[in-house]
Amino acid sequence: MCYCSDGRSNEHRKAANSAQPPLTVIQLPRRVADPFAILRRLLIATVSFLAVTTLLFVHVQVPSSSSSSSSSHSHRNYFTDKFPAFHDPQRWTREQAPPYLSKATFAASKLNDSRWDSDYEKLWKPPPNHGFLPCTKPTPNYTTYPESRGYLLVHTNGGLNQMRTGICDMVVVARIINATLVIPELDKKSFWQDNSNFSDIFDEEWFINSLANDVKIINKLPKNLVHATKMVIQFKSWSTMDYYENEIASMWDFYKVIRASKTDSRLANNKLPSDIQKLRCRTCFEALRFSPRIEQMGKILVERMRSFGPYIALHLRYEKDMLAFSGCTHDLSTAEAEELRIIRERTAYWKRKHVDPIEERSKGLCPLTPKEVGIFLTALGYPSSTPIYIAAGEIYGGESHMAELRSRYPLLMSKEKLASVEELEPFSIHASQMAALDYIVSVESDVFVHSYPGNMARAVEGHRRFLSRGRSISPDRKALVHLFDKLANGKMTEGINLSNKIIDLHQKRQGLLRKRKGPISGTKGLDRFRSEEAFYSNPLPDCICQTPTPTANASHVVR
Ligand SMILES: *[C@@H]1O[C@H](CO)[C@@H](O)[C@H](O)[C@H]1NC(C)=O
Ligand SMILES: *[C@@H]1O[C@H](CO)[C@@H](O)[C@H](O)[C@H]1NC(C)=O
Ligand SMILES: *[C@@H]1O[C@H](CO)[C@@H](O)[C@H](O)[C@H]1NC(C)=O
Ligand SMILES: *[C@@H]1O[C@H](CO)[C@@H](O)[C@H](O)[C@H]1NC(C)=O
Ligand SMILES: *[C@@H]1O[C@H](CO)[C@@H](O)[C@H](O)[C@H]1NC(C)=O
Ligand SMILES: *[C@@H]1O[C@H](CO)[C@@H](O)[C@H](O)[C@H]1NC(C)=O
Repeated sequence: MCYCSDGRSNEHRKAANSAQPPLTVIQLPRRVADPFAILRRLLIATVSFLAVTTLLFVHVQVPSSSSSSSSSHSHRNYFTDKFPAFHDPQRWTREQAPPYLSKATFAASKLNDSRWDSDYEKLWKPPPNHGFLPCTKPTPNYTTYPESRGYLLVHTNGGLNQMRTGICDMVVVARIINATLVIPELDKKSFWQDNSNFSDIFDEEWFINSLANDVKIINKLPKNLVHATKMVIQFKSWSTMDYYENEIASMWDFYKVIRASKTDSRLANNKLPSDIQKLRCRTCFEALRFSPRIEQMGKILVERMRSFGPYIALHLRYEKDMLAFSGCTHDLSTAEAEELRIIRERTAYWKRKHVDPIEERSKGLCPLTPKEVGIFLTALGYPSSTPIYIAAGEIYGGESHMAELRSRYPLLMSKEKLASVEELEPFSIHASQMAALDYIVSVESDVFVHSYPGNMARAVEGHRRFLSRGRSISPDRKALVHLFDKLANGKMTEGINLSNKIIDLHQKRQGLLRKRKGPISGTKGLDRFRSEEAFYSNPLPDCICQTPTPTANASHVVR
């Protein structure tokens, strides 16, 4: 849902593990009366019906090969084996239990099949938690906020996920400079044109009340100050305490109102006091929740996904804007590549006009194509019966680029497929609200996979770490494209060797609980900050702590 579109994108790309949170654009299809939609729905219904029927009648048959990595495998077979949910009519009532605690439920409804257990371990089991639990409580030294010295107005920038992390940082800034925070304005001017206000997306009352001991938050600037002279400022990127305590707070001597004109990456990832880091987490993971109607619709989507069994949420960043921006043209037609080139040329705030798509791809900087994601998931062992939720806007080229992924994984779902037009109608013209639904389904998924590590992928991964949700798989794009090229050249075929290689490459790319990575050595200046792992994608150790005795209670505690 996010992409780099600001002037710093060149530098952004230089840093290998770039942590520069780019501006975010969410581009979603306007729902127009589509005569094919009904047909499509009908087809899906038929396919689902067939799948269920197959299950009911052939459910004793088990695939004869234990290898689920071969794509030549008949898709049909898997329907008979991998749909525990359909065997269990009570499943709908158990949706509250985290999926991995429901293992017994799945297993009990199965034949006495140890293979299923080992598949479960291999494919769905969350990474070991080692007794880590959220720890966001303030230290004993933390006080309620002192008297306010003035007001902080905030204009957020970017798409949903960039705005979210920006809001969390601004809460902290208000705390540091002893300001009263006015409910942030959301970015409405970017070309995805979402006019949602804060309270359309977030639960404003909950936000204010949850942070009552941390920062004073008000809905509107007091009337007598509306026309006061304001200090309008773009805070320096990746700043630490000093900057805000000294440079910014000194402005109170002259102004009653400070207005922050940008919110992305205004606060350093590291080297901040413990209580400041914990406040970031309390804000982002607890206080800043979506508005009740979004939460409710999100929950419905999650339940509908779970009715298919454990599911993957795939953040498939293969939308037009992303491709145009990145300059990546692999597997596109000449006409498509040309269309994207023209968009890139004409978009003034994208500084990078000339991209060598082959070099870009070989450096691992391109989003994976839907086809590539399909090969990847197959190699990891996910059977073709795996339900996949596509968390994305309109996929570039539509079905023409989705066909190969769909032929591997027929159960490709999305908001539009899981909900009726009427159900989605209140959200569908608001790109950020649609993105919020994707966010919820992604955080709650059994396995989260992205095709490009943008803002959304990072935010979801961090939130899942915090909540001890399942694994978040981060493809090693550089190594993968190398293997994909071998496949294309016929130097390799899909099968157990490729599968083993890909599994090995991703042992440590599953959203494991580990300390946040610092800057890449040798990087300097802002690139140094960009190369750090982002705070919100891994709030460990600040907000996730190891308890003396490992418990299995993590998910209860945080829920
Ligand atoms: C069923 O599973 C149990 C434990 O996993 C095993 O001891 C037992 O032999 C299995 N029974 C059959 C019939 O396979
Ligand atoms: C609390 O404040 C005291 C005195 O300023 C200091 O010595 C101590 O380290 C602080 N404790 C924490 C947890 O920050
Ligand atoms: C904020 O208020 C506290 C308590 O009065 C004070 O110690 C601190 O110096 C203030 N910070 C700034 C930046 O004004
Ligand atoms: C957002 O708030 C503004 C000002 O209060 C209002 O004019 C506008 O209609 C609101 N937008 C939406 C989508 O409700
Ligand atoms: C897998 O790799 C081994 C050793 O590199 C080779 O001998 C074998 O033929 C390969 N198997 C397949 C199916 O490609
Ligand atoms: C886990 O939670 C249960 C109830 O939710 C509690 O009785 C038990 O003591 C907890 N276990 C540990 C080790 O904290």
